[in-house]
Amino acid sequence: MKKMLKGLGAALCVALPFLAQVPARAASAAANPAVDQTLVQRGAYLAQLGDCAACHTAPKGKPFAGGLPMSTPMGRIYVTNITPDAQTGIGGYTEADFARALREGVAKDGHNLYPAMPYPSYAKVNDDDVKALYAFFMHGVAPVQQANRESDIKWPLNMRWPLMLWNMAFLDKGAYRDKPGKDAAWNRGAYLVQGLGHCGSCHTPRGVAFQEVALDESGSGFLSGALLDDWFASNLTGEHNAGLGRWSDEDVRTFLKTGANRHASAFGAMTSVINNSTQAMSDQDVAAISAYLKSLPPAGGNAAQPYTYDPQATKVSLDRPANDAGARVYTAYCMHCHGVDGRGFAPMLAPLAGNPNVLAKNASSLINVTLNGTGDIVINGVPSPFPMPGFAAVLDDQQIADVLSFVRAGWNNGAPAVGVAEVAKLRQSTQAGR
Ligand code: HEC
Ligand code: HEC
Ligand code: HEC
Repeated sequence: MKKMLKGLGAALCVALPFLAQVPARAASAAANPAVDQTLVQRGAYLAQLGDCAACHTAPKGKPFAGGLPMSTPMGRIYVTNITPDAQTGIGGYTEADFARALREGVAKDGHNLYPAMPYPSYAKVNDDDVKALYAFFMHGVAPVQQANRESDIKWPLNMRWPLMLWNMAFLDKGAYRDKPGKDAAWNRGAYLVQGLGHCGSCHTPRGVAFQEVALDESGSGFLSGALLDDWFASNLTGEHNAGLGRWSDEDVRTFLKTGANRHASAFGAMTSVINNSTQAMSDQDVAAISAYLKSLPPAGGNAAQPYTYDPQATKVSLDRPANDAGARVYTAYCMHCHGVDGRGFAPMLAPLAGNPNVLAKNASSLINVTLNGTGDIVINGVPSPFPMPGFAAVLDDQQIADVLSFVRAGWNNGAPAVGVAEVAKLRQSTQAGR
């Protein structure tokens, strides 16, 4: 089957695991004694924090040689070659050119980059880190001759000068500055989440011009959850049902390091973030991110009752599934992994009772994961043993709506039912992208 990548989310999902490749590429620099190895190594780590490989390394492609298609509201564009090849890559970039591309979205020849490159987040990266990243891309990455591909966007929409106006309106220039009154861990976490980690590029809702509605915790809506390429990137604020309110600091750290914890598992677009980026973070950096996220007040407040587990009503319907279409599907197709009690076998098999993704108002992720399953989470080179299978070929739209409505009502989840039209729509849009 010819696989056509649909968008940012899908693009990130399939990026090749990058972890194991760093030492091999860094080796080329070892030959040159003038190169500061420590700086190159630090740059390699920062490139993992920034997940550059997720976009710049195409599946089966050479590291950082680009070529991956990404969809934008105006049409398809192709990620560029950022290996140090002089003709087709960024070999001719000075450190200042590199800094400008990374933080201001302007290429060496002066053309504006589309904000599909997350420079509005990378704008926060400080000079020391830019220097290390530059050293890595010049000396730790093998040059690859591979010409960039023109975008499919048609004239006049392909003109790049309007991006200058976009930048004037939405680009927040200037590296991150420590916030007084906050400790070092919090500031480090804020720097990583807002900057290199570009978590908001998926988790913050976008406004009419595709801009993130807030770039830090001072703006409402920051990390409050957003739909991107048919995945809903969860609310990461302190909201206690759909957000991280019920997660301990340790829960957050475990999720970022291993892709799963007692509440939920990574799937969809988050899989590649775990595979390529967060699992490689030092314990200190993961703890900093957790400290920062756990400090975010609940977006939209915490008016709803906090979730409490109650198996009773669900147990009754599962005892007599003939009476309940959703319970019938659950018993036949889901129960052996997610359990009669809805608690799954965490962290291997995600719980559905009290899972923030199940409680979220937007059901897109639930429908998408049930239709299409998800890519493997690969931790230290080992893929997850029982990934969620896709049911698109087995269950029709009505059955998926029934079982998800059952799951959303079950075990005291109390989330709204899923409509059959919503399932049909996602089936169509996710199949078009395959
Ligand atoms: C979410 C996807 C994504 C991520 C993550 C990403 N980039 Fe990019 N990057 C792009 C796209 C798309 C372009 C090309 C944009 C265009 O053509 O307008 C680009 C362009 C660039 C360019 C300009 C090169 C040129 O000649 O076009 C540089 C330099 C660059 N990226 C560096 C990085 C670095 C360093 C990182 C990691 C810290 C990174 N990128 C992470 C998507 C991404
Ligand atoms: C490419 C898009 C993307 C990026 C970038 C991204 N995420 Fe996610 N994230 C998602 C999606 C989609 C989900 C929902 C699926 C899931 O739970 O894994 C998610 C889920 C999560 C969850 C689990 C929340 C829950 O309730 O289950 C955490 C925690 C998280 N992300 C943290 C982060 C952090 C921290 C960063 C930045 C370092 C980040 N994410 C960057 C897409 C993304
Ligand atoms: C083979 C075991 C298995 C079966 C069968 C299965 N699942 Fe899953 N499911 C998983 C795993 C594992 C995850 C966590 C994501 C991952 O690692 O792939 C998951 C995740 C989910 C999620 C997202 C929750 C989260 O935080 O990860 C939902 C919703 C879900 N499953 C619903 C269903 C439904 C509905 C059915 C039946 C139609 C079903 N599952 C059948 C293994 C299974």
